[in-house]
Amino acid sequence: MPKQFEYLSPEHVDFFLDNGYIVIKNAFTKERSAEWTKDVWVRLGIDPHDKSTWESERIHMPWFYRETIATFAPNAWAAMKDLLGGEERINEEASQWGDSFIVNLGTEHWENTEPLPPQELDNWHVDGDFFVHYLDSPEQALLVIPIFSDIKPMGGGTMTCPEGIELIARYLAAHPEGVLPTGLSFTPSTSTYEKNEDHPDYWSHLKEIKRCKQFVEMTGEIGDVVLMHPLMLHSASKNHLRIPRIITNPPVSLKEPFNFDREDPSEYSLVERKTLKALGVQRLPFKITTERRRIVPARVLRQQKMMEEEKKRLAALSEKERGGGYNAVMVK
Ligand SMILES: [Fe+2]
Repeated sequence: MPKQFEYLSPEHVDFFLDNGYIVIKNAFTKERSAEWTKDVWVRLGIDPHDKSTWESERIHMPWFYRETIATFAPNAWAAMKDLLGGEERINEEASQWGDSFIVNLGTEHWENTEPLPPQELDNWHVDGDFFVHYLDSPEQALLVIPIFSDIKPMGGGTMTCPEGIELIARYLAAHPEGVLPTGLSFTPSTSTYEKNEDHPDYWSHLKEIKRCKQFVEMTGEIGDVVLMHPLMLHSASKNHLRIPRIITNPPVSLKEPFNFDREDPSEYSLVERKTLKALGVQRLPFKITTERRRIVPARVLRQQKMMEEEKKRLAALSEKERGGGYNAVMVK
């Protein structure tokens, strides 16, 4: 008997199993988005109307404010539960989103130029720089993109490669010892080579992406939420329009690893079903051969420093200028 879903339609389910992603339209309101983004330029210390102040191409901001997804974007939360096999499987700390924006401003170099072929983008990766990856890793259970600015084609939306799910799934299935995220690449966790790339099973995302032909650029409108399979290969793209692009990329984790060997097939989550489909099997008794472990990425240290700088700029802005409505801000 087919599983009953809280939010997803049969069309959503088919689309996810074919393409590895779905888009939830209007998952949060434009008003809530405006509320969350209203201090973004002060926090960054740049003028959105003066490109000479835009020093970085892309900025990953820390968070000041968090809210449960269930109240901020109820349909997206319902869809996430449907994709992951129920709320009881999701780590509670992953049930909140924050204002940790990823702003893509682009650069003068790429302004109004023709887009690059997607294979030539320079940022292809799979999310999760903080743990050793296995096929069943629970740490990054979905790739989630809530959209906080309207994104047109060529406007710096995330480029994705749905057929890459199969490539990554097969590579991870062949590596029960786990692989380290080593920049835009994977290296078997048991490698003793001095240089990662010397390992015969070293995996370069930038190299492997050349095999792919099917790409989807994640455009959308404020309030849309893209939910993707965790093994979706993706890359930041060039913002040729230079309309500031604002998204977040909140992690979701599971309490237990994905299970590809369930007695009752109706217990498979949709993400598990998509992984099995990518591997071309109905069931897979996958067992890891090393200990799961976490890694502290350099990104965390960079963001701590950035948060201190943002706090100083926000403190310099008087309460009067900031207006009401921000009293609920939680500063961590
Ligand atoms: Fe990413």
